[in-house]
Amino acid sequence: MNNLIIKNAAQVVTCSGFTGKRGKEMGDLHVIENGTVIVTGSIISHVLRPGEEIPVSEPDYTVIDATGKALLPGFVDPHTHFVFGGYREEEFSWRMRGDSYMDIMNRGGGIVNTARATREATEEELMDSGRQRLDAMIRLGITTMEGKSGYGLDRETELKQLRVMRRLNGTHPVDIIPTFMGAHAVPEEWKGKEDEFIDFNICEMFPLVAREQLAEAVDIFCEKGVFSVEQSRRYLMAARERGFLLKMHADEIVPLGGAELAAELHCVSADHLLQASDEGIQAMAEAGVVATLLPLTAFSLREKYARGREMIDADCMVALATDLNPGSSFTASVPLLFAIACIYMQLSPEEALTAFTINSAAAINRADRIGSIDVGKQGDLVLLQFPSYKFLPYHVGMNIVETVIKRGKIIFSMC
Ligand code: NIG
Ligand code: FE
Repeated sequence: MNNLIIKNAAQVVTCSGFTGKRGKEMGDLHVIENGTVIVTGSIISHVLRPGEEIPVSEPDYTVIDATGKALLPGFVDPHTHFVFGGYREEEFSWRMRGDSYMDIMNRGGGIVNTARATREATEEELMDSGRQRLDAMIRLGITTMEGKSGYGLDRETELKQLRVMRRLNGTHPVDIIPTFMGAHAVPEEWKGKEDEFIDFNICEMFPLVAREQLAEAVDIFCEKGVFSVEQSRRYLMAARERGFLLKMHADEIVPLGGAELAAELHCVSADHLLQASDEGIQAMAEAGVVATLLPLTAFSLREKYARGREMIDADCMVALATDLNPGSSFTASVPLLFAIACIYMQLSPEEALTAFTINSAAAINRADRIGSIDVGKQGDLVLLQFPSYKFLPYHVGMNIVETVIKRGKIIFSMC
C-alpha cells in the first residue's frame, strides 16, 4: 500500500482539471498555499487547505514535511523517441558548420542513420540504454512519458522497439505510453516507393501492432520530402479504422498544411508546428487538437520557435514535450524546456506548467488520470526545492526537483 501525506507545502500547485485547457484557462493553476495532499493506496484521496484536519490515521502513512517547498503534479512528457541505437554526434557538428537537418537526412543521415543502428542493436541493449534514459528523466520530475517507434522502419525492428517499451513500462516506475511511428522516414529499400511503404504500414504493421496491443497511437512525419499531406491522410485514416489515436509531426520544417490536416482528422495532438499557418492554428483550436510544442528541438536545430503565445491567444490547447531523440533534440532537459518556453516562446510560467502537466496528459489521452493534483487521480507528484513553481523557468537550466513520487511511492529524492 502506498500511503503518503505531504504536509504544509508552501504551494500545492494543483493544475486542477480532468481535460486539457485552452487559451486563458491555461493561466490558472489553482494554487493552494500551505496545503496538504494525501495519497491513499496510490490514488490522491485528499487535497487539504490550511486549517483542515488530516482525516486519516498518520501512523499508516509515510509523512513528508514540505514546508518551504512547492508540490506539483508529476510532469508528463508527451513526445519522445527515447528507444534508439547509436548516436549522431557527427551530424550535430555538421549542423554547427551550417548543414541543415534535411540536407543531412537527404544524404542518408538523420533518422535512417539511427534506424541502421537500431536494427543492429539487441533488445537487451535497447533495454539498457532506454532504462538509463528513463532514470535520468525521473530525476527531472517526469512521471509519465510517451515513446515512439520509428527507428526500425521494418517489421522486426519496429516491433522490437515497441516490445522494449512494453518491457520497460512493466519494470520501470515511469509510465510509458507507446506510439507506433512506422512512417517516420523512408528507408533506403523503399526509396521512390513511398506510397507502397505507406501501404506496407497500413496492411502489415497496423494489424500486427493492434493485435499485440503494442501502441495506443499512430504518428507520421508529414513533411516536404518525407510524407505528403495526402499520404499522411491515407495512413492516419487507416490507423483510425484500426482504433488507434492519431498524432502527427506537422509543419516542422516547411508550412505544408499539417495543422489543417490534424484538425480535419481530429488528431489527439499535432506536434512541432514551427511553421503552422494562422488558418491551421485556428482550425486546431476549433477541433480541440492539442498543439504539442518542442522548444528543445527548435533550440537544437537553431530554428525559430513555434508561435506558442499566438496559439494560446487563439484559444488552442498547448502542451510542451522534450522530443528526446538522438538527432534533432538529444536532451530531456526539463529545466531548459521551461526556460525557453517562457523566455523565447513567451508563455507565462503558469501556462508553461499547464502545458507540461494537464495539457501534456491530454496530448496522450490521459487527462482523466494524471496531470493534476485532484482527488481520484494517480498519486504522481513532484516536490521542488523552492517555495514557488515560478522558480522553474527562473532558475534557468537548473534542476530544482527535490523529490519525485509515483503512485504514492517516493521514487527519487535528493535528500
Ligand atoms: O521529432 N522530425 C522528425 N522526427 C524527430 C527527429 C528524429 C531524429 O532526428 O532522429 C523529431 O524531431
Ligand atoms: Fe519527434
